[in-house]
Amino acid sequence: MTTTPFRDGFAPVTEEITAFDLEVTGRIPAVFNGRFLRNGPNPLSLDDPHASHLFLGEGMVHGVRLRDGRAEWYRNRWVRSADVARRLGEPVRPGPVHAGMDFAPNTHVIGLAGRTFATVEAGALPYELSYELETIGSCDFGGGLPGGFAAHTHADPVTGELHAVAYFFGWDHHQHLVLGPDGTVRQVRDIPIADAPMLHDFALTERYVVLYDLPVTFSMEHAQKGTPLPYAWNEAHGARIGLLPRAGGETRWFDVEPCWVFHTVNAYDDGDEVVVDVIRYPKRFVDARLDAGGAPTLDRWRVDPASGKVSQTRLDDRSQEFPRIDERRTGLPHRYGYTAAARELNDIVSPHDTGLEDLPDEAFDNTLIKHDLVRGTQEARQFGRGAYVGEPVFVPEGEAEDDGYVMTLVNDPDRGAADLVIVSARDFTGEPVATVHLPARVPLGFHGSWIAD
Ligand SMILES: [Fe+2]
Repeated sequence: MTTTPFRDGFAPVTEEITAFDLEVTGRIPAVFNGRFLRNGPNPLSLDDPHASHLFLGEGMVHGVRLRDGRAEWYRNRWVRSADVARRLGEPVRPGPVHAGMDFAPNTHVIGLAGRTFATVEAGALPYELSYELETIGSCDFGGGLPGGFAAHTHADPVTGELHAVAYFFGWDHHQHLVLGPDGTVRQVRDIPIADAPMLHDFALTERYVVLYDLPVTFSMEHAQKGTPLPYAWNEAHGARIGLLPRAGGETRWFDVEPCWVFHTVNAYDDGDEVVVDVIRYPKRFVDARLDAGGAPTLDRWRVDPASGKVSQTRLDDRSQEFPRIDERRTGLPHRYGYTAAARELNDIVSPHDTGLEDLPDEAFDNTLIKHDLVRGTQEARQFGRGAYVGEPVFVPEGEAEDDGYVMTLVNDPDRGAADLVIVSARDFTGEPVATVHLPARVPLGFHGSWIAD
């Protein structure tokens, strides 16, 4: 019997809500003039076959608009893929489709060129949303995308370019994409790669695009069996980190211990070496199961092109996810990183890791963590049971790396609704600067952005 992952923190909401003038505790700083948006899977029906997989629920974007110290609105909207539009009794928005893969992107939501995009990986296109989160339609950036796009992108804070790496089960390569700040595709490069591996995230440094070629690959066997997401741990594939020179030239590959990485904290060049901080799992997608393979740790790879070797160090052995940084440091040396440890995510992703060493300690349950990677210390801010704390998004205010705020959605089990909590990054465990009380529960989801106006 399969149990749906869409329970507890991930239990979907069934309504779209628009609410104005939200109650705020504390004071919203003046820097907040824009929208906090977050995407996540929210199946239209739990009876759908794809509701058996956490990654396959239709995307729903939740948004809070902040301006002049006020929380002007909250909205949540499903992304209208053709299927979602039909099921909601609406006309289908016209737009391009890659390889027949029309999907309501459920993984991230980003701002680019004054526009808003919900994104997903593995072959499907982004969908463009209006400022108020209504679906405009699918988007291939004016025909600039040869295939699909990616869930995760990284913007170079120096050049303003947006980088992405697309993958698709039908390709013999991954595809590195560079978009300009105007939202047009400026560069497309194919990187030959065997076995159609999954690539959820990558990293950027000043010199390189850092690729992870890890042993989770498309599985024809699982596809033929009808497994909803036919990617599986593949011992035969090996594990490598690739350095693709941004200035041009071939990717150079470096062997690492087999593992799985969903998310990058950040990466940077350190002399000739490259430092890559990631949330790393010992294995994942064993027999195509999301929930098998051990709990993750925060680890650092140091790639030494001179020796061809990669060293690996553990920065934190506690289970955590959703790493973010001050994105003015993307590709540059970073001191701070922010992560979330959500019990409800752990229960879905690592329920079988019952060894004591794999359990997150209680004090680390539903916790936001600020890492000082120079001092090797952490500050933890615990929210308690049922909070299913989400991804911490950093919003800068002053010049220094941690001069700003960390914002995330936190469920309030007493109210049965979510709060948008804003804490000072420099007073991480102090009283929140502001708490915006939303009118409804927001399920635990994936990624989001602060998109300044
Ligand atoms: Fe992700």
